[in-house]
Amino acid sequence: MVEKIILDTDPGIDDAMAIFFAFQAKQLDVLGLTTVYGNVPVEMSAKNALALVELANVNIPVCKGVGMPWVGEESTYAHFVHGDDGFGNINHPAPKGELDSRSSAQFIVDTVKKYPNEVTIVAVGPLGNLALALRLAPEIQHLVKSVNIMGGAAFTLGNVTPVAEANIWNDAHAAEIVFSAEWPINMFGLDVTYKVPFSPTFMQELSKVNPVLGGFVKRASEFYADFYSQGKEQKECFFHDAFPLAYIMHPELFEMTTGHMRIGTDELHRGQTSFAPIGSTMSPYWLNAQKVNVATKVKHADLTQLFIDTYALD
Ligand code: BDR
Ligand code: CA
Repeated sequence: MVEKIILDTDPGIDDAMAIFFAFQAKQLDVLGLTTVYGNVPVEMSAKNALALVELANVNIPVCKGVGMPWVGEESTYAHFVHGDDGFGNINHPAPKGELDSRSSAQFIVDTVKKYPNEVTIVAVGPLGNLALALRLAPEIQHLVKSVNIMGGAAFTLGNVTPVAEANIWNDAHAAEIVFSAEWPINMFGLDVTYKVPFSPTFMQELSKVNPVLGGFVKRASEFYADFYSQGKEQKECFFHDAFPLAYIMHPELFEMTTGHMRIGTDELHRGQTSFAPIGSTMSPYWLNAQKVNVATKVKHADLTQLFIDTYALD
């Protein structure tokens, strides 16, 4: 069965790799890209998403979304990870097409209502668009098939602070709204994404099986891998954002743990995904919180092969 998805994204190099993976996957029907600030400002995020759609020759709406966190100051962005252009400074040409006139949140609301109980929202950036969509139309929490999130760190260290992963840290109040809603959530955080490092051989392989899309990922990843390889002997990088997509296609590659999730919003715990597996606590602070599924294990070799095989498809 082909699964309808909306991909909410902040491209971003691992976002680009994930977007192409979704376009290539025969089991996924990408209804649109909704963009958000995060790795880069939202204007760049939207422009980059449009450029990726054009490179892949795919005709779907691309929307611009929120540019600021729910609460607090403008983000400082992650150009040191993704380059000045969000694509590892490779001078990729500007897109020629136009953005959809709707906001990302409005597109999410319209699309979920058009296909009730059929759409999975795959969110791989900060969660402001999803929070705003819930504010515009709270009923969508009962109309979405599931929400698959790349973000958080349940049992492992964060990558912005010791307790917080970047996507959740970047908009902790929005994350709290999204994780409190009554829609089924599957979370793919650093617990699994940091278990699967990708070497230059992998990027080489992607570019061999798919010179246009894989070639783009290989070129863009050089800057990205330099960031991730500081102080290491071998070059490596992480394709976080492709994990929640792989789960839709092959859930058997993941082990999931169910529990109650709280999101930290005070300054010290900002963006913490504080997770209590079922039966692990009597605290009402967690027992009264929504239940979510958190990915805790992944089959490394099978996932890597899935990425390569999917990029190799016509
Ligand atoms: C997440 O943060 C961003 O930098 C990546 O694109 C990914 O979505 C990893 O923490
Ligand atoms: Ca991302």
